Amino acid sequence: MGGKLNKIKKHFEEEAKEFDDIILKIIPFYKEMLEALILALPYPKTQKIRVADLGCGTGTIAKMILERYPDSILTCVDLAANMIETAKVKLARYKNIEYIVADFHKFNFNRKYDIVVTSLALHHLRDNQEKKKFFKKIFDALNKNGVFYNADVVLGSSETLQNLYMNKWKEFMQRKISQSEVENIWCPKYEDEDRPAKIIDQIKWLKEIGFKKTDIIWKYYNFAVYGGIKP
Ligand SMILES: C[S@@+](CC[C@H](N)C(=O)[O-])C[C@H]1O[C@@H](n2cnc3c(N)ncnc32)[C@H](O)[C@@H]1O
Repeated sequence: MGGKLNKIKKHFEEEAKEFDDIILKIIPFYKEMLEALILALPYPKTQKIRVADLGCGTGTIAKMILERYPDSILTCVDLAANMIETAKVKLARYKNIEYIVADFHKFNFNRKYDIVVTSLALHHLRDNQEKKKFFKKIFDALNKNGVFYNADVVLGSSETLQNLYMNKWKEFMQRKISQSEVENIWCPKYEDEDRPAKIIDQIKWLKEIGFKKTDIIWKYYNFAVYGGIKP
């Protein structure tokens, strides 16, 4: 495992217990963002669907999916064993969940899915090439009419916009935490561990891979929910 990946793993192994409180302070409108993703899922509530949640963390999206689709079958994948353990506690009352501790770089889907979702995880992939390759892997793992939606941190298409986005993000964080914590903890973690890509590029990759009905469902500066459908 490379140095950066080790660092990411360590970060989330250590943060697992406090993650659900921290995320609300550092990600603008986290709940609204995930709600937008869930609302975009096109299946009737009674449908028995197979879902993969990649980088499931503490299982927040998985829980929202199980609440909306009680008959769904989930695969929850994450690099950090402690995140998976926390997800198991949160999702204890649900059956039909398979948990896999795995790194995206080595993970191979061993079945097809109706839905692949992921949130705040794929920006950890090293570079644009890896992200596009992973989008293709997701495309191949979807059934016909399967959907892929990603809620993630993204880049603006110009330096001016990116600066605006970063200022708006810092402004949000400073409503809940001190400026020194933002500047000395969260901004350095972002610089060190995160490799977001321009949303405009990501939509282009999705189209090139073959996704249809690609769209940006929700956006707040550098946070967005986007994806498409496999025809
Ligand atoms: C910011 S958390 C988001 C968790 C959850 N999806 C949510 O929105 O609350 C990112 C998660 O992605 C996982 N992750 C990061 N890089 C990964 C990789 N290469 N393979 C698998 N999981 C990864 C981390 O362990 C962490 O649990």
